[in-house]
Amino acid sequence: MRAEGVRIQNLCFSYTPGKPVLREVSLDIQPNEKFGIIGPSGAGKSTLLLHLNGILSGGGTIHIGETPVSPETLAPVREKVGLVFQNPDDQLFNPTVEDDVAFGPLNFGLSPEKVRERVKTALADMNLTGLEKSAPHHLSLGERKRAALATVLAMRPAVIAFDEPFSNLDPAMVAQLVNLIKALETTLVVISQSIFPLIACCDRMAILNEGRIAAVGSPKALAGNAELMRENGLDLSLYRGVCEGLFFKMGSDQVKL
Ligand SMILES: Nc1ncnc2c1ncn2[C@@H]1O[C@H](COP(=O)(O)OP(=O)(O)OP(=O)(O)O)[C@@H](O)[C@H]1O
Ligand SMILES: [Mg+2]
Repeated sequence: MRAEGVRIQNLCFSYTPGKPVLREVSLDIQPNEKFGIIGPSGAGKSTLLLHLNGILSGGGTIHIGETPVSPETLAPVREKVGLVFQNPDDQLFNPTVEDDVAFGPLNFGLSPEKVRERVKTALADMNLTGLEKSAPHHLSLGERKRAALATVLAMRPAVIAFDEPFSNLDPAMVAQLVNLIKALETTLVVISQSIFPLIACCDRMAILNEGRIAAVGSPKALAGNAELMRENGLDLSLYRGVCEGLFFKMGSDQVKL
């Protein structure tokens, strides 16, 4: 499917009356853009993502390309937007990994041959070749996360919305996922607490804090603004100290924090 833009206008949402979780969130994400959203725990990131394919529905409007997200458009919207949940166990429910990855393409009515090819490619991209017949609950958490990503990759949606894709992956897998994300010809909305992978794979980034967009800009510019990051609950001074110790003082045998 061709990449499509995501336009969010004045999105407001509360789980409990009087306790807003999203406050007037507006974002304009371009087709094929890799867009990161960072923010402290509880900022409303996952809540925002769940609006993109209509699992939650708040005030304001969301468009995927020209299609408004509404109760009447849920079927086309869910074909366009592939959502990868924070917890892979919310995504994997079939007896084997290959059944889970085949589930979406089969539902789209693809031929068995095409489905086999999609499953093979998605599993290879996620380094899961050989685990086709495994039961998802027998995989490690990192493997289950990759399997959950594979279920969405196999559907080749116009927009992929990833919730914390980098957590519980080993460094080599994070690097592989960053490269995969950069190469995808689809729009990506990536929510993460991991600033380095976001800098490595995103064209732009937003900071979400207490349900509000605090800033939008290039990931490097935002992450390099220590005061902005700190004000929004994202203190990177520990990382900065470690990085300086590791990469800029190679002669020193002590990491200065
Ligand atoms: N189903 C729910 N019912 C009531 N409150 C909820 C529900 N889900 C989330 N919340 C609350 O909404 C707020 C935002 O939660 P959300 O999961 O969107 O945050 P987040 O930014 O994704 O955090 P994290 O980085 O920890 O995943 C939190 O205060 C949370 O307790
Ligand atoms: Mg979350």
